[in-house]
Amino acid sequence: MAALNIVVGISGGIAAYKAVSVVRELVLAGHDVHVVATSNALKFVGLPTLEAISRNPVHTDLYEGVDEVRHVSVGQAADVIVVAPATANTIAKIATGQASDFLGNTILATRAPVIVAPAMHTEMWQNPATVANIETLRSRGIRIVGPESGQLTGSDSGPGRMSEPSDIVAAVLETVVSSRDLVGRSVLVTAGGTREPLDPVRFIGNRSSGKQGVALATAAAARGADVTLIAANLEVPLPAGVRCIQVSTTLELQSAVQAAAKSADAIVMAAAVADYRPAETAQSKIKKRSDSSTLELRLEENPDILRGLAAESPESQIVVGFAAETEPQDAALLELGRAKIARKGCDFLVINRVGWTEGFASDRNTVIVIDKVGDRVGEASGSKLSVAHRILDLVFAAR
Ligand code: CTP
Repeated sequence: MAALNIVVGISGGIAAYKAVSVVRELVLAGHDVHVVATSNALKFVGLPTLEAISRNPVHTDLYEGVDEVRHVSVGQAADVIVVAPATANTIAKIATGQASDFLGNTILATRAPVIVAPAMHTEMWQNPATVANIETLRSRGIRIVGPESGQLTGSDSGPGRMSEPSDIVAAVLETVVSSRDLVGRSVLVTAGGTREPLDPVRFIGNRSSGKQGVALATAAAARGADVTLIAANLEVPLPAGVRCIQVSTTLELQSAVQAAAKSADAIVMAAAVADYRPAETAQSKIKKRSDSSTLELRLEENPDILRGLAAESPESQIVVGFAAETEPQDAALLELGRAKIARKGCDFLVINRVGWTEGFASDRNTVIVIDKVGDRVGEASGSKLSVAHRILDLVFAAR
């Protein structure tokens, strides 16, 4: 494995002394290790120890290295972050996104995988507040290692003991390997919703925010893929680390997709594409009619981009379509999906239910994924980012 930039976050618990072994094992394995210690952690283990073992300066003070914007640069440069030990207090701070110290800033500023090794007394570990915070961390894709059950600091014993350093190191390295499973793959994602202009100020559009497509692009990039995002009228910011091409209409989306499709190992058509466009686009604003209380619009059919892609796609390319359906019944929803994938000819179809209150602007999503023959290959529910990872797992598992 190539040398990694690994941040070891240490918070103030007695298990901080064991963090020295975590740092040492990672350094001996050839990695570049940067310790970020809270000021309480340094009451348990000395700064010179951590600097000597890590062979790098230890970061604690939020106001050191301000000229290098160090409170974010350490997290930005990391390939992985492990917090060991993570006290109940530090876990609560991560769960609520607090940036009151160097460690909090580093975690907020990273896009790398984060691993947390909790260490605390059993009552604290089992407290509903900690249980809820751990659940929050897990739902955001943070991996929790341990704690083990055993002898604690006082005379008590039970769950709360930090995992052994070698188990933590193994979890860190395994997370990096599995989290970079798309290195060398090229992924093309479309996101957002197309707009078909009626005149210079109006369009026919849809309520897609682009969040799920952006989450797919972000997830694929984080896993090492070379990502191109074709973004149609997003309501969310363009993601970093991704090649972005902005389009508006279906025809623009089609030509951008066709130009990028050949070199893609996988194409994910998450964009909501208008099936029809106005037959004529007025060059000046359409005026309200005084002679009639109705206005007729004549629409003409847009090309079906997904069907065209699927028909021309080489055997090795994975083509994934999305189906936004308003059908409330699960079985009927699946049937609509099966009919759609048969029509489109793509390799996978991600079916999600949309409605007045479901789907679009939400940060969460629930989907079912079916394959070419209509078999259900999996489902996902949760944040759009976690759903994106699951979709990538399912579609790349086939190749
Ligand atoms: N799609 C496309 N070109 C179109 C319409 C849709 O490439 N002209 C793609 C979408 O990006 C999506 C999939 O086809 O991946 C399904 O889109 P959807 O709107 O659900 O399907 P339609 O074919 O439009 O079927 P219907 O509107 O009748 O449900």
